[in-house]
Amino acid sequence: MLFPDFRARRLREKEPFRRMIRETTLTVNDFILPLFAIEGKGVKNPIPSMPGQFQLTCDNLVKAVKEAKEVGIPAVMLFGLPDKKDELATRAYASDGIVQKAIKSVKNAVPEMAIITDVCLCQYTDHGHCGMVQKGKIDNDASLDLLAKTALSHAKAGADMVAPSDMMDGRVGEIRETLDEEGFSGTPIMSYAVKYASAFYGPFRQAADSAPQFGDRRSYQMDPANSLEAIREATMDIEEGADIIMVKPALSYLDIIHRLKDEIDLPIAAYSVSGEYAMIKAAELNGWIDGKKVMMETLLSIKRAGADIILTYFAVEAAKELNR
Ligand code: PBG
Repeated sequence: MLFPDFRARRLREKEPFRRMIRETTLTVNDFILPLFAIEGKGVKNPIPSMPGQFQLTCDNLVKAVKEAKEVGIPAVMLFGLPDKKDELATRAYASDGIVQKAIKSVKNAVPEMAIITDVCLCQYTDHGHCGMVQKGKIDNDASLDLLAKTALSHAKAGADMVAPSDMMDGRVGEIRETLDEEGFSGTPIMSYAVKYASAFYGPFRQAADSAPQFGDRRSYQMDPANSLEAIREATMDIEEGADIIMVKPALSYLDIIHRLKDEIDLPIAAYSVSGEYAMIKAAELNGWIDGKKVMMETLLSIKRAGADIILTYFAVEAAKELNR
């Protein structure tokens, strides 16, 4: 049907009609809030490149989780900044490590909140890479055991779900096997299956003090030019036992989210990363855009592309908008 028989504007004229035919809706159930835990007490360090986000000691982390719960957010993703870094990332899997302590504090104070933990070594290694380094190279197989140990230590501390973000081959299988053997067969794995070597992680590396001290992450994270490879990565992780497949970053990879939604039958998570947050905040603080509207439009676009779950630093702010 063509104009003038068909008029697309008829159903756009009135708000009730716009509401009736809306295809995508965001809800607070879609959001996971990432949080950064540091050692100490009473500290709330602003992250300069992420206005409104902080490094938090456990007491303040609990407050942030309570606020997230109040606005209806179902889950948080915890990252830890350890007191010391070493070659074997020992503070990543220590029972008194920062994430392990943070899990216990949050579980104790806000038991209803689901705790997901980022499983990676880059914040804990002195070289800042996500795996073990042998002779100047990232050694895939030598890293698997430490990653599985890290995931297990999170589960033992009370984590409800683990999320490996290191991009070593075979880590999902190794973590699944370890969790199963140790009595955690009910703990799901959200795999950062499709993680690109992206410049959008810049602010995070400042927030988590996790920049690589030499080279870059292109030998393990994906080439932004590739899309078929996303299917292979996701398929591999599903075979190994992943329960949720994540795409990261989100905004420049909406095509990948859409493609995976079509091709796989697991829930898809999208991580709207630090650089995406920083860009919107910077433009908002300069008065160049309406930050709240751009935030909501961005989150909606990620959902429309096919994401079932969105990891976003905007989670609390967006939840407040939705609850208004
Ligand atoms: C750790 C990890 C990173 C992010 C999440 N987990 C950084 C990286 O891979 O360098 C990025 C999150 C963000 O930018 O918001 N491997």
